[in-house]
Amino acid sequence: MTVLALYNLKGGVGKTAAAINLAYLSAADGLKTLIWDLDPQGSSSFYLNVKTVNKNETKKLFSNEVEIPDVIQGSIFENLWIIPSDISARHLDVLLTELKHSKRKLRSLLNNLKEYDVVILDCPPGISLLHENIFNAVNWVLMPNIPTTLSVNAFETVMEYFKNNELDKSKVKCFFSMVDHRKNLHHEIMQQFYKDKLFLKSYIPYLSDVEKMGINQQPIFEYANSSYAAKCFRDLWSEVKKVCL
Ligand SMILES: Nc1ncnc2c1ncn2[C@@H]1O[C@H](COP(=O)(O)OP(=O)(O)OP(=O)(O)O)[C@@H](O)[C@H]1O
Ligand SMILES: [Mg+2]
Repeated sequence: MTVLALYNLKGGVGKTAAAINLAYLSAADGLKTLIWDLDPQGSSSFYLNVKTVNKNETKKLFSNEVEIPDVIQGSIFENLWIIPSDISARHLDVLLTELKHSKRKLRSLLNNLKEYDVVILDCPPGISLLHENIFNAVNWVLMPNIPTTLSVNAFETVMEYFKNNELDKSKVKCFFSMVDHRKNLHHEIMQQFYKDKLFLKSYIPYLSDVEKMGINQQPIFEYANSSYAAKCFRDLWSEVKKVCL
């Protein structure tokens, strides 16, 4: 089992778009894949058209009131399962502080998922006890970064956090997302950061076909399989497979 977290301190950088499309490609490669929506916004759950079945399910899962098998749902795609999220996920930080092994709870839940080849966590933005759980539990942190000043600041804050908390920064792999080729700033920042070995070569441009995931409520390959956007996600998945699996 390889666990990948789509994570950034910053919101709205393309974490969920990547989580869904990479999970789809993983499943299409014949790998038994689970996407775990940890975000109270429930965007991954929305894209896969799946809702939680229990009231306050995410909170109950972390407080052992429901078990992992009770919350895993199939998707319409072969080899792709999901643990959907609900608004109760907003309480996870408070809940975790009350637990005995508060920094390792997610890791112990993930131990029940060993039958999956790939588990992809769609993380909420931020840097909190939940995120510390994520950093401790996963094999890889995949961090989309928009090549702008504030996004780069967020990247540097996260790296500083890894250093100060003695976390393994070699498990972080970044990729650029929402790249706008018309903007010089994007080019300059990308050139500067490609020197850093934490950055993957593949990147996702700003493309309306990605935005249309919201209207179509589907991974991009289902409605624009031959688009440039689909090709970019395929390239990203090939590189992630090489580096992480
Ligand atoms: N490459 C892209 N090109 C154009 N639009 C994009 C791209 N990637 C994502 N978007 C759009 O930008 C918005 C934010 O994307 P997404 O939900 O994937 O980000 P996120 O990092 O998961 O956000 P949050 O922090 O709120 O969870 C969405 O409306 C999405 O459709
Ligand atoms: Mg998201």
